[in-house]
Parts: sequence; structure tokens; C-alpha cells
Amino acid sequence: MDVRVIALGGSLLSDDSIVFEKWMEGLAEILKKRSDQESKTVLVVGGGAVARNAINVVSKTTRDRDSLDRVGISATRLNATIIREKLLSLGVHVSREEPTSVQDAIRNTGHELLVMGGTEPGHTTDCVAIEIAIGIKAQSCLIATNVSHVYTSDPSTDPNATPISTMSHEDLRVLVGEPKDHKAGGRSVVDPVGAKIARESDLDLDIVDGRDHSAMSNALAGLKFNGTQISVK
Ligand code: UTP
Repeated sequence: MDVRVIALGGSLLSDDSIVFEKWMEGLAEILKKRSDQESKTVLVVGGGAVARNAINVVSKTTRDRDSLDRVGISATRLNATIIREKLLSLGVHVSREEPTSVQDAIRNTGHELLVMGGTEPGHTTDCVAIEIAIGIKAQSCLIATNVSHVYTSDPSTDPNATPISTMSHEDLRVLVGEPKDHKAGGRSVVDPVGAKIARESDLDLDIVDGRDHSAMSNALAGLKFNGTQISVK
């Protein structure tokens, strides 16, 4: 059975550079095509700006990381509901199950399409997607974010940043740091906690720009895609 897990960055829901409705239609087409081919998909949706703003409000009165993470989790679940309802209205078959844990998701992968948010404090939705992919013994996990590649440094601040097409998990570790660096609402191209778990389980990570529908569908189909392939070297 072909099951693919996608971490869908929450920033894609609030990105001004895309026309949201058009983007949703493209995503719906990809998912419908997968259903038609009897492939299953798990979509784990991130919190984006909603999570960051909410964490910012609560962080004025507490620094308790679990508390801030719980706020972030609520935001990811709200975004998952938005994506689920939009997909339903576009004619995509979405399961009524809304998994709230990795085990819950793994138990329900028989459904055509599962849409969910975060699970528990201590990581991001990248990590949730990675754990589900490992649990179902997938070869790779797709991370759809708002940059086309992993870069040598942060492209929003460094004009010399260059895109990387293939890299090892060890290279990724050097770039994103160790899991101790997890911070509620923190920004990293791949969550360091998820990067470590993927590294230890030899799970390949395919990083694409979620606004690039052809990159997404090629990566899902196992074809050459525009993005970064992170594998065990
Ligand atoms: P996200 O998965 O949205 O992280 O979780 P992100 O890196 O900001 O990703 P984008 O921007 O959506 O692509 C937002 C916050 O919610 C908490 C963490 O604090 C995280 O930083 N969270 C999320 C959890 O604690 N556990 C989860 O399972 C998911």
C-alpha cells in the first residue's frame, strides 16, 4: 500500500505571495489524483503565523515551554481544520478521523486522506510527520515549506546563501543544530528534533516549496523534483 506523509508548513496558509484559493485547488488536485490511484496520504499541518502570534501573546506572561507549545499545538489544529474543510469543499475525500497522536495516525492510515495538526509539546509538526513516516516504515517523508530548498545559510538574511539539492543527515545536523535548541515557535527549515529522529531511523527527507505544486507531486511520485533530498550517505 502506498502511503505518503506530508508536513505542510503553516506559513503556506498565510503567505501573501500566493493566491490561497488557487493554491488550495492545486493541492486538492494532487490529493484527488493520489486517491484515484488508491494511494493514501497523511497531511500534518503546521501553525504558521497563527501559532507564532498566539505564542507571542502568551509568552508575555509565562516562559513555561510546555505551556507555549500547547498554544502552538492548538494553532496547528485550527490550521488542520481549515485545510480539511477547504479540501472537503473542493471534493477531496478526507477522513473524519482527526488524529491527535502519532499512534492514532498510524492506526488510521487505511483512510484515503488524514489531515491533522500537532500532538504533544517538545517538537513541531515536521517531527510528527517524521514519526508517522517511520511508524509506517515509509522510505521518506515530504516536508512542504515556504522555501524551495535547504540553503547553506538563511536566505532571508544572507545574500550569499545558496540552495542545496542533495545532502546527508549529518550535513543537516550541522545546519539545524541539536534538539536541545527546540524553542516554542522557533524557526528552522527542519525541526532539529525531527531531523535527529529521521537521522537515527535512516528516513530520507524531501524538502520542497509547498507553493510549487509540480515539485510536490513529483516528490510524492518518487520522481526527480525541485528541492532538497536529504538521505543517509
Ligand atoms: P509548527 O509545526 O507550525 O512549527 O508548530 P513551525 O516550525 O513554526 O512550522 P511552520 O511555520 O508552520 O511551517 C508551531 C509550534 O507549535 C508547537 C511548538 O511550539 C511549535 O514551535 N508544537 C507543534 C508542539 O509543541 N508540538 C507539536 O506536535 C506541534
